[in-house]
Amino acid sequence: MSSTNALPPVIAIDGPSASGKGTVAQRVAGLLGYHYLDSGALYRLVAVAAKRAGVAWDDEPALAPIAASLEARFDGDEIYLNDALVTAAVRSEEAGAGASKVAVWPAVRAGLLARQKAFRLAPGLVADGRDMATVVFPDANLKIFLTADVVTRAERRHKQLIAKGMSANITILLQDLQVRDERDSQRSEAPLRKTNDAILLDTTHLTIEAAVEFVMARYKVVTKVP
Ligand code: C5P
Repeated sequence: MSSTNALPPVIAIDGPSASGKGTVAQRVAGLLGYHYLDSGALYRLVAVAAKRAGVAWDDEPALAPIAASLEARFDGDEIYLNDALVTAAVRSEEAGAGASKVAVWPAVRAGLLARQKAFRLAPGLVADGRDMATVVFPDANLKIFLTADVVTRAERRHKQLIAKGMSANITILLQDLQVRDERDSQRSEAPLRKTNDAILLDTTHLTIEAAVEFVMARYKVVTKVP
């Protein structure tokens, strides 16, 4: 047995914004009793923390220490920054756009790396993001690249925001998603891409339940559970 096999198992789920990977990852983690890492929330937290500290999202040297020393805590669905509740700010469209800007900087990514790896605890981890399979957990036991057509993603995000009682414009949401897709896949550091060993899961015409079932079935195959 190699030392890699001694580490708790990881399911890496990468994909573009609003693809549904967070919901799928969380449900799979719940079914398996595994820990869950929402890596996007860490980049969002850096964007929120920077804004509060008056640091611009393109100021890499000033962003680096913010990423490396983020005082963040996750408690169920709630997120705290320096003990202040910041869930709504972190989940906002503004923080999503800010996250995608701070995430282009190598020093920010490096500052968050150890923190992400620390989520790998027994009995296992389901991690979602953009570079889970490529950078953070390249030895993941199962790699899923979860995507959906951009118009479908914009419609899903629109529905979510309306359900939360927030105002939303589908044309603007679509444009924002396209800008973020472009930035996340074109950046030089850890761009969003499917690895050869990742399984493509296109959820454009799938329900969340079907996507969860797909991941669970694949995981049973790799773990050889009958
Ligand atoms: O997944 P979510 O939409 O919350 O991520 C927000 C942004 O954070 C993404 O658009 C991406 O730029 C960045 N991100 C990243 N690497 C990750 C997770 C998120 O670059 N592993």
